[in-house]
Amino acid sequence: MASTSESAFSREGKGEGKGEGEGEKVVKKKKEGLGWMEWVRGWLYLAYEMLFQRIMASHLQNPMPLPPLHDLTCIITGSTSGIGLQIARQLAESGAHVVMAVRNTKAAHELIRKWQEEWSGMGLPLNIEVMELDLLSLDSVVKFAEAWNARSGLLHVLINNAGIFSIGEPQKFSKDGYEEHMQVNHLAPALLSVLLLPSLIRGSPSRIINVNSIMHYVGFVDTEDMNVVSGKRKYTSLVGYSSSKLAQVMFSSILHKRLPAEAGISVVCVSPGIVQTNVTESGGIPFPSRAVPFILVDVLPQLDHLMGFLARDLPKIVQAAYRLIPYFIFSAQEGSRSALFAATDPQVPEYCEMLKADEWPVCAFLSEDCRPTNPSEEAHNLETSYKVWEKTLDMIGLPLDAVETLVQGDEVKCRYGAHEG
Ligand SMILES: NC(=O)c1ccc[n+]([C@@H]2O[C@H](COP(=O)([O-])OP(=O)(O)OC[C@H]3O[C@@H](n4cnc5c(N)ncnc54)[C@H](OP(=O)(O)O)[C@@H]3O)[C@@H](O)[C@H]2O)c1
Repeated sequence: MASTSESAFSREGKGEGKGEGEGEKVVKKKKEGLGWMEWVRGWLYLAYEMLFQRIMASHLQNPMPLPPLHDLTCIITGSTSGIGLQIARQLAESGAHVVMAVRNTKAAHELIRKWQEEWSGMGLPLNIEVMELDLLSLDSVVKFAEAWNARSGLLHVLINNAGIFSIGEPQKFSKDGYEEHMQVNHLAPALLSVLLLPSLIRGSPSRIINVNSIMHYVGFVDTEDMNVVSGKRKYTSLVGYSSSKLAQVMFSSILHKRLPAEAGISVVCVSPGIVQTNVTESGGIPFPSRAVPFILVDVLPQLDHLMGFLARDLPKIVQAAYRLIPYFIFSAQEGSRSALFAATDPQVPEYCEMLKADEWPVCAFLSEDCRPTNPSEEAHNLETSYKVWEKTLDMIGLPLDAVETLVQGDEVKCRYGAHEG
């Protein structure tokens, strides 16, 4: 892995924040979106991944073989469907103690009953339990973390898998007042990761795995407008989703830097690939059909903005092409491989340590073929990453030194949950 990673990470970060020594004047020229070259490169990369992910991952077995994991305790968010369901089941079948952190606890209990039935006679009963977690409520995140930490047990792997992509839907806000993609895909997992640090330190060497997305390549985070309400950018679900995934990479990069090596916690983002799940399917309508409203509502307005002539021609091309899409996309089991690899492969912590020692600007990012890859150019913008870090901690109600305080073994107060007020 190291040799692949060395070549993948041999470029310098291409952050395009303020130029050095340009002072006040440059502050006014603050970057307000991706440059068109970055944007086009992002979409080309996405198209490339979609077309070639099956070929690139052809060396991987499906399901991914896992070693015996009887000593591992893993929390997996959003494990009632799609990629998370596959992750939970496979980890449990390999002997791990699995905690399904879900909002629909009834569905999770039903799944466990079914899995136990199918597993009976193949070994010890699966060691799975359910705990309630609704990422649309930061109070719920704090309650979950407090309940878990109160057990004083070990946590070896936290997999932040749950996510939403409300394709073509209007902008919505959580009861905490945050844009829903930003809250579910970034803010709530960030809060969960920080609050579970005491348990992850007890379980170290341990790992925080974020199921991210290549869509972050077309994302941009405006730290002064995390909710996309200022009108500077038009809100679309694509803007909401891609920004939230980029914010997660940026926050994870700083978390990776702030955690001392002695804490023994690896922070990794993974791309599952393009996968047929509820995120890409709604009401029984599969992704190819969903792609049309997605492209019309989310992609075309942006394309039109940049290349009006091309946008007018695109629907016909898309209509012709989308029938082919099912042949290229992964099943949920195939999509679970990068997260399972990140959670269990012994080389992953070494790789994270190497990035830390090299003071690399971004955390580890594994692609759907389980190889290290570079996140987007914008993700390398350290100045913005630090702003995302500070803004996120503020939004989730934690002090700026929360990580250092928890690493020292002290408590932190969160604005949400039981410590409210
Ligand atoms: N599918 C893809 O092509 C693709 C590509 C790149 C990245 N990803 C990422 O992969 C991850 C898993 O997505 P998926 O494709 O497996 O989609 P999925 O089948 O829709 O699963 C999403 C899971 O997240 C849970 N969830 C949603 N909102 C939640 C909330 N407020 N609180 C707690 N749990 C919540 C869902 O629970 P409910 O059943 O209760 O709604 C569900 O279990 C996401 O982070 C997604 O962004 C997917």
